[in-house]
Amino acid sequence: MINLVLFGPPGAGKGTQSDLIVEKYGLIHISTGDLLRAEMKAQTDLGKVAAAKIEKGELVSDDIVIGMIKNKLAANTGAKGFIFDGFPRTTAQAEALDVLLKELNMSVSVMLSLEVETPELLKRLLERGKVSGRADDQNEDVIMNRISVYNASTLPVKEYYKAQGKQQEIKGVGSIQEIFQAISTECDKSL
Ligand code: C5P
Ligand code: MG
Repeated sequence: MINLVLFGPPGAGKGTQSDLIVEKYGLIHISTGDLLRAEMKAQTDLGKVAAAKIEKGELVSDDIVIGMIKNKLAANTGAKGFIFDGFPRTTAQAEALDVLLKELNMSVSVMLSLEVETPELLKRLLERGKVSGRADDQNEDVIMNRISVYNASTLPVKEYYKAQGKQQEIKGVGSIQEIFQAISTECDKSL
């Protein structure tokens, strides 16, 4: 069983790499951003709350995202393991994830942090915005706010996993295959 936290700023390549990891290791991919966007599309109450935050590049409350993770874990009891993409975004979320996994006799195996500098992130996100249809990828101020929120609220999560000896940095620039190679090497250590 591998439970992988795929960490990194917006535009680091978490979604792209998740697709390849799913294919190779058969893990269940849980992207809280994708789940929130699905709620927005379905215009649920949760989706309306999420939309107000996402359009500004701010974070949805810990309770909401932790609840979504809890539901996803409960719905996939037979899984070989999970990729957590875009979650945890705060130390409180990381603590809650540990508790939820422990209740199911699981734990985080490794946290891989995709390292990409801000100018490259901005370039990638604006490029993605042309095709993703995501409003939060099309506005430079919103993108820069997402990166600030990442630096202020999400970066401390790295220290949380570092203290557990689970944090590994992966160079997030280069070809998709090169980056996937580096990720695979780390995943194989957890098999
Ligand atoms: O993970 P992703 O970049 O797809 O997230 C898009 C937006 O969804 C974030 O900018 C944030 O507004 C919201 N989000 C959140 N909490 C999470 C994941 C996403 O608030 N755990
Ligand atoms: Mg993503």
